[in-house]
Amino acid sequence: MARLLITGGAGFIGSHTCLVLLQAGHDLLVLDNFSNSTPLALERVSALAKLDVQSSQARLQVRRGDIRDRAGLDDLFSTAASAGAAIDAVVHFAGLKAVGESVREPLRYWDVNLTGSRCLLDAMNAHGCRTLVFSSSATLYGYPKDVPIPETASIQPINPYGHSKAAVEQLLHDLAASAPNQWRIACLRYFNPVGAHPSGKIGEDPLGTPNNLFPFMSQVAVGRRKSLQVFGGDWPTSDGTGVRDYIHVIDLAEGHSAALNCLLAEPAQLLTLNLGSGQGASVLEVVHAFERASGRQVPYEVVARRDGDAAITVADPAMALQRLGWKTQRGLDDICRDGWTWQAANPAGYSDQG
Ligand code: NAD
Ligand code: UD1
Repeated sequence: MARLLITGGAGFIGSHTCLVLLQAGHDLLVLDNFSNSTPLALERVSALAKLDVQSSQARLQVRRGDIRDRAGLDDLFSTAASAGAAIDAVVHFAGLKAVGESVREPLRYWDVNLTGSRCLLDAMNAHGCRTLVFSSSATLYGYPKDVPIPETASIQPINPYGHSKAAVEQLLHDLAASAPNQWRIACLRYFNPVGAHPSGKIGEDPLGTPNNLFPFMSQVAVGRRKSLQVFGGDWPTSDGTGVRDYIHVIDLAEGHSAALNCLLAEPAQLLTLNLGSGQGASVLEVVHAFERASGRQVPYEVVARRDGDAAITVADPAMALQRLGWKTQRGLDDICRDGWTWQAANPAGYSDQG
């Protein structure tokens, strides 16, 4: 079992991954500035992992801080080491992820996503911690030429968010090449992470108006919003709406656990893996699955295509199966059931739960 630093561990994917990693027996130190999350998510993770107050202090420590604070990172690594709990590996979720916002505020995106990652890597290197799992994204593939998309497809991001993720991947390659046999790195390219823990205790809680299909549709179903806009009914797909590879967030979390096990067991390497199901679902298929799961209607209107959307994005997940022995276990109905359980139990997300 390892002692892990989880940056951005209070966020949507981070909180679910913390739970899965705790259940796998790892001890965690979460670093988060809570710019897009709340400490309450981690309190719930602790409860779901059945940690009492004493074991929680040892197994799930939480530190408020920023990945761009180099002195703060030094202090974190040194304090852990001097307490006899040196950090073995880092799972790096902290970052900004809204495509439209990245177009409006490129400096902030490059700062948090690239400068923040560079600062973290510098501190890791200085403290001799060279094992990293990095949150990359299928957004790197831009408008894919062939689907399903293998990891060998060309990297052609089409917005500042995607550029910042591609730059971090490049930095990781350069770093691994500079010190062969030292760095153990997994770049995990997520497809569309959705759903929630089946307990309904943790889930996705976007600030403001959601940009993504699942949170928007869930808020329509729960009555927070009137109707869903379906972006384009004239795509070259079976029903004319966009097709994506939706992956249950618990499957995704398990993918991180498998990647860590692989990095810790095998010689130094840089792995780049798609994490997706390999199955596509159209917007209307998703809407209908969600209506079945929730028993609610999701009123929608088909409007013009959204700028920057691809028709079909589906992973070829064969490499993750081959290298990690990992594949998704949960389908669209599980995603909708668990996503609805979270939304119905927390209509306003974490904010009204105290
Ligand atoms: P999220 O916003 O819920 O989580 C990110 C966490 O990082 C939040 O808790 C936030 O407070 C924290 N954070 C942000 N800036 C920070 C900083 N400077 N210092 C410390 N903490 C900071 O997002 P998520 O959906 O959980 O995504 C996690 C990672 O996965 C991100 O890097 C994102 O780009 C990547 N990713 C997400 C998706 C997706 O659809 N959700 C898809 C592909 C990749
Ligand atoms: C989006 C980002 C992608 C990012 C990912 C996770 C864009 C162009 N892409 O992916 O870079 O990695 O989120 O943060 O922003 N849809 C609707 N109505 C809505 C919302 C979405 O019809 O209100 C459709 C979209 O056109 C698409 C599908 O639903 O066909 C999924 O959209 P979304 O959830 O936003 O994910 P992506 O566009 O795949």
